[in-house]
Amino acid sequence: MQTGPRPRKPVIGIESSCDETACAILAPDGVILAELVLSQQADHAPFGGVVPEIAARAHLAHLPGLVQQAMREAGLHFGDLGGVAASCGPGLIGGLIVGAGMAKGLALGAGLPFVAVNHLEAHALTARLPGLVAGGAPFPYLLLLLSGGHCQCVAVDGVGRYRRLGGTIDDAVGEAFDKVGKLLGLPWPGGPALERLAATGDAARHPFPQPLRGRAGCDFSFSGLKTAVAQRIAGLPSPLPPQEAADIAAGFQRAVAAVLADRADHAMAMMPEARLLVVAGGVAANAAVRAALSGAAAAHGVALVAPPVRLCTDNAVMVAWAGIERLRLGLADALDVAPRPRWPLAELSAG
Ligand code: KG4
Ligand code: ZN
Repeated sequence: MQTGPRPRKPVIGIESSCDETACAILAPDGVILAELVLSQQADHAPFGGVVPEIAARAHLAHLPGLVQQAMREAGLHFGDLGGVAASCGPGLIGGLIVGAGMAKGLALGAGLPFVAVNHLEAHALTARLPGLVAGGAPFPYLLLLLSGGHCQCVAVDGVGRYRRLGGTIDDAVGEAFDKVGKLLGLPWPGGPALERLAATGDAARHPFPQPLRGRAGCDFSFSGLKTAVAQRIAGLPSPLPPQEAADIAAGFQRAVAAVLADRADHAMAMMPEARLLVVAGGVAANAAVRAALSGAAAAHGVALVAPPVRLCTDNAVMVAWAGIERLRLGLADALDVAPRPRWPLAELSAG
């Protein structure tokens, strides 16, 4: 970690930790000057999940063009920038190497400070982008990260200051949506399609177990729920009648929403100083999940902050913003920092 100049100029952010290639440029006050995301979903869909090698090659093919396009849209030259930020972990190492390499090249070529952004910190700090909460979300707050790869409750005390209150002991919640989507014959990723199917179903017909509900702490578990769905489907006619599939989707979604509300309830009790509950990750797009969390937050007199879906899923706006937050504190990184496939929030350096 190096101390560097505070940004008085725009910062460019690069995201390549999973299957979104993204680039964004933000003014030092957080105003978005360019925002581009290229999803690789179509490349991975035939394989029913993200293929790391395909992801890395796609990042390599698309990132340079995306950076040039973002610079054009912002109407900037590299010399106009005040810093370069890139996701350097956790995530798929091939993609991280591509993004970090590109960012370091830019920083070196243009003589700019470089920030190695922890992808989870970027999700965590999104709520502080101007415009989401009047005046920017103040620390401390509670973060519920609900994505395909991550599922955890985090106390956000400040930039670089995180306490993990709980997390999944098996599958991430998005992974559970994807696996149940597969059981129901839905295209990958299962979450969005399952939510649409559940809208036409009767959740009461299939009351599924709600793992860890009521248990102390705020850990999560979803593999037992997925197994219960598989067993229910195995006992029904094949192919599954469409109404039956919709009822199962609705029952599963209700169980997940109830579990998340219960875990959030416990997390808020563990962190009474938090006045905000922030959700992030692709599953935060789910309306039933948002409704359940909003009820849980209201019961604690806590405000729920759910950023727009495009800022909940993987994006580069959050990476550039995390870069700005760090540069504001004078925190930059050396160019020899290596990307990390595993990088728990608790190991971050504080501002
Ligand atoms: O945060 P994200 O875009 O990528 C990472 O996993 O990092 O999250 C993707 C996950 C997938 O598992 C997807 O099925 C799930 O979020 N998801 C949803 C919905 N939209 C996306 N799950 C439930 N309901 C949705 N509407
Ligand atoms: Zn993510």
